[in-house]
Formats: sequence, structure tokens, C-alpha cells
Amino acid sequence: MTRITEIAADLYQISTFIPEVNLQFNQFLVRDEQPLLFHTGMNRLFPVVRDAVATLIPPSQIRWIGFSHFEADECGALTAWQTLAPSATGVCSLVAKLVSVDDVVALRPAQALADGEQLCTGTYRFRFLQTPHVPHCWESGLLFEETQGTLLCSDLFHQNGDGEPSTSADVVGPFKRMLVDYQHGPFANYLPYTSHTEATLQRLAALKPRTLATMHGSTFVGDGEQAFADLAQAMKDVLAGH
Ligand SMILES: [Fe+2]
Ligand SMILES: [Fe+2]
Repeated sequence: MTRITEIAADLYQISTFIPEVNLQFNQFLVRDEQPLLFHTGMNRLFPVVRDAVATLIPPSQIRWIGFSHFEADECGALTAWQTLAPSATGVCSLVAKLVSVDDVVALRPAQALADGEQLCTGTYRFRFLQTPHVPHCWESGLLFEETQGTLLCSDLFHQNGDGEPSTSADVVGPFKRMLVDYQHGPFANYLPYTSHTEATLQRLAALKPRTLATMHGSTFVGDGEQAFADLAQAMKDVLAGH
């Protein structure tokens, strides 16, 4: 039920498909001197994610727990992870830390990263990008691993269904279909389209990422700059004016 795939060097996708919502929930483990987990998943996923991590490293050695924004699939199990891993510290935006994380889910104070600040885990270097309301929520941010060009992109490039771990095929088509489908149900207006959206997406495109590690669906490997241009157009087509 939970699938583990190395999608880039030392970067493991831990994917759990939940049929009731036709959705994968992917966590990413970076195996390095200071192991980093990106997204904890919800509390109900904690046992399977922990067991998956345990096949790669002792889970108690997790040092950093990054996430984009304050939602259950992003950081719901932060408390459980910090109970298990005594050195585990949340890393997120200052807004996330001050507005929600330290009060609600952090067992120990989170480390806030400023826009552009770097976090080195040993071999790998992560650049923090503050991206308010992209994919969604005021406190949003993303981590870009600079040595390999991997963007941990949270809900951006979300595809429904139980797809392959990674693909070089088009992922923006499935992303756009998801947006259109969601507009007709309880998940309408999943992602906002604001006066800042296009500039934020252009900034992410300019990173020229080679791997786009999304939380929901297949990781994209290929021309990330073009993929972001296509994503921006899809979001504009479906969401602008709603
Ligand atoms: Fe989200
Ligand atoms: Fe999500």
C-alpha cells in the first residue's frame, strides 16, 4: 500500500494511495548527514510513513521536517515525529511558525527560514522560497535542492489517481483536469489565482528545476521551466476570474 521509490539521488518518495479520495499522499525523505523529511502526512498515515522511513534510516534520526503550509497532509503528524525523533525540528516560513505551527503541532519551536535562506543537510543544499498563496495559504513556502535541481513543490502539479512514482510525460494535462474536476465539487477553488500568482510561478520556473517532486501524483523529471510555464497557463485558464 505504501510504495518507496528513489526519485533522485538519496531522495525517496514514500507514496500512499488513498482510494476513497483517489489521491496519493507523497512524503519525501532525503538521506543525508542530517536526514530531512518533507511533509509528514496526516496523523492517520504516521504508522505507515514511519515504517517506510525505517527501511531507509532509523526514524529517530530525522533531523529536519520541512513542509509548505499548515495543513494536515503537510505537517499533521509533526508532533508524532518529534516524539519519536528527539532532534527533529520543523522548518517552515516565519508566518507558518508564528501563526500556527508552534502553537498547534510543534513539540519544540520550529526553525523559520527567510526567503532565499539556505539549509544544508550535509551533501545537499536546500534554498527556501517564500511563496505566499502558492500553491495556497498565506504561510506557504517551498524547498529547492540546488545540487540536483529538485523542487519539493507541495500541491503544485497535483494529479489525481495512483500514477507512476515518476514520469517524463506531461503532468500539466492531468493537473488541469484535476482543477476542472475540483471546480465542480466541494474542493472548488482549491488554489487561489491572485495578482501575485504569475510572478511567483515565473520565479519558480527561473530555477530551471529538473525534478518536480509533488505531494499528489507522479514526480516530473524533465524541463521544469517549461512545465511551470504550462502550469501557469493552466491555472490562469481554469482559476482566473473565479
Ligand atoms: Fe495544501
Ligand atoms: Fe496536499
